[in-house]
Amino acid sequence: MSPPILTVVVPCYNEAANVPAMVSRLRTVLEGLDWEVLFVDDDSPDGTAAVAKQFAAEDARIRCIRRVGRKGLSSACVEGMLASSARYVAVIDGDLQHDERLLPAMLRTLEADEADVVIGSRHISGGEASKGFSRLRQMISDGGTGLARLVLPVPVADPMSGFFMLRRETVDQLAPQLTGRGFKILLDLLLTSPQTLKVKELPYVFRPREAGESKLDTIVLIEFLTLLLDKVSGGVLPMRFLSFAAVGGFGLLVHLLVLTLAIHQLDFATAQWVASFAAMTANFWLNNRLTYSDVRLKGRALWRGLLIFYVVCGIGVAANVGVAGLLLHDDHLNWGLAGAAGALITLVWNYAVSATLVWRA
Ligand code: GDD
Ligand code: MN
Repeated sequence: MSPPILTVVVPCYNEAANVPAMVSRLRTVLEGLDWEVLFVDDDSPDGTAAVAKQFAAEDARIRCIRRVGRKGLSSACVEGMLASSARYVAVIDGDLQHDERLLPAMLRTLEADEADVVIGSRHISGGEASKGFSRLRQMISDGGTGLARLVLPVPVADPMSGFFMLRRETVDQLAPQLTGRGFKILLDLLLTSPQTLKVKELPYVFRPREAGESKLDTIVLIEFLTLLLDKVSGGVLPMRFLSFAAVGGFGLLVHLLVLTLAIHQLDFATAQWVASFAAMTANFWLNNRLTYSDVRLKGRALWRGLLIFYVVCGIGVAANVGVAGLLLHDDHLNWGLAGAAGALITLVWNYAVSATLVWRA
């Protein structure tokens, strides 16, 4: 059997209620074409994968990947696209907010070689975004779109879109350099390509969500900013490192706050210990939620991770104090520079070692 011409990748998390409608809509709009749909579910508690697999049991065009222990919208899209053998791949949200009726026109555009990437766009004439968004969401989305446009090499009206189609070959080429993290897989693709991809946008009206709820939260926004910095720095500042460093900065504030509170009750050394543990615990929790959201530790692994994190950071603090002391006395640096150098070494050490020993990312 030859592969279909088009794979429609549908990332899903808790979208069980939307799967049947998605299947029936795709059957209607793609009638007459050789297509398949691939639901990529991250083991949703609402049983999304089970619903998709019921359809798959009766129709060979319907497939489902259930990922366990991995999570994230971008990585789900990448995994789905890489699992395709079709000539073209599309990505569309599983919550019916994107207009699937655009798919045939997207395919025709690629087949006519008019573009490398076709984007379903809310920000060109004929498109509309506001129906699907609250006012706050609209403002956040506009800010993000503005920032993304600044760093993009080609003009794209809707770089934040999660609805697009491209040749599978393009994904295969770019996949090793994708961060695959966060919510913005299209932006990741556009910023990863060494030569600029020819983009064509087709308008559609973003629909309000009918069932289930959005998974966009503060973590997603921070991931968006770190994705831009990662790409703008040419990968020198990887997303994870930036996030780890930001969490470290926050940990410093926690440390100083706890120290201020404890210093009146305890002697300085004990107060420092208490503040250090508070900061390390806060950092561990935040890194687990944010920096390593895709491989988040739970249950027993969480406690094991926390213990190792204490040890790693403890060594980091010792290195910080040692290095700063050496620089201060032997190289006669001023205390500010010596302290900053010590802190930088600690940051790199904590990051490198906890990435391998604590989260094994
Ligand atoms: N597999 C998987 N894993 N799917 C996920 C995850 C995840 O961790 N998080 C979200 N999804 C799925 C949702 O189930 C939905 O089908 C789709 O990704 C979009 O998630 P929403 O939670 O509905 O996000 P949104 O509506 O705020 O934003 C989306 O739509 C925008 C408009 O096009 C995103 O796709 C944006 O990238 C997009 O720009
Ligand atoms: Mn949505």
